[in-house]
Amino acid sequence: MRDQKGFTAWFTGLPCSGKTSIADGVAEILKERGYRVERLDGDIVRKSLTSDLGFSKEDRDENIKRVTFVAKLLTKNNVAVLATFVSPYRERRAKTREEIGNFVEIYIRCPVEVCMKRDIKGMYRKAMAGEIKNFTGISDPYEEPENPELILDTDKETVEECAQKVLHKLQELGYL
Ligand SMILES: Nc1ncnc2c1ncn2[C@@H]1O[C@H](COP(=O)(O)OP(=O)(O)OP(=O)(O)O)[C@@H](O)[C@H]1O
Ligand SMILES: [Mg+2]
Repeated sequence: MRDQKGFTAWFTGLPCSGKTSIADGVAEILKERGYRVERLDGDIVRKSLTSDLGFSKEDRDENIKRVTFVAKLLTKNNVAVLATFVSPYRERRAKTREEIGNFVEIYIRCPVEVCMKRDIKGMYRKAMAGEIKNFTGISDPYEEPENPELILDTDKETVEECAQKVLHKLQELGYL
């Protein structure tokens, strides 16, 4: 096994901005290079660890609180953690940063109009039709990161280019 330093790379951004696609790409490359990697993804976590929660501000914060607990344990045990959550609230992300310590915030930035066109799960359509309430970007707020370690503009670059930028940043920060 590789001698590696634990960290949590935290991907935040609107639905369909590209969090999962980029983090999956990064995970694949890190695994090929022999790193211990764990992925924590909103869609999976919400079906298991936090299946009792909804999308009010309180529930969104609780969702991130529980995930933070898991990410912190993994980070402490020298795992490379790639966490992909809309995580719309700045204050909650700041708490996560504080708790985890080795934390790299990556803002997956994309105009909501482009996210709406992608709409790979059909959620924007439902939100626009009023079938889903509290949908981030449409009927719920998204608080942009003020000082993230990295910003990726996914309407301008490919998934591969974005994944390479993440790897470069992790190396620059001394995690790889
Ligand atoms: N530069 C890019 N980075 C990431 N995704 C991109 C990029 N360019 C185009 N895409 C496409 O945008 C879509 C992003 O979907 P993805 O599921 O990764 O978003 P997400 O942020 O994880 O959304 P959700 O919050 O709903 O889980 C994919 O179909 C992906 O191929
Ligand atoms: Mg996703």
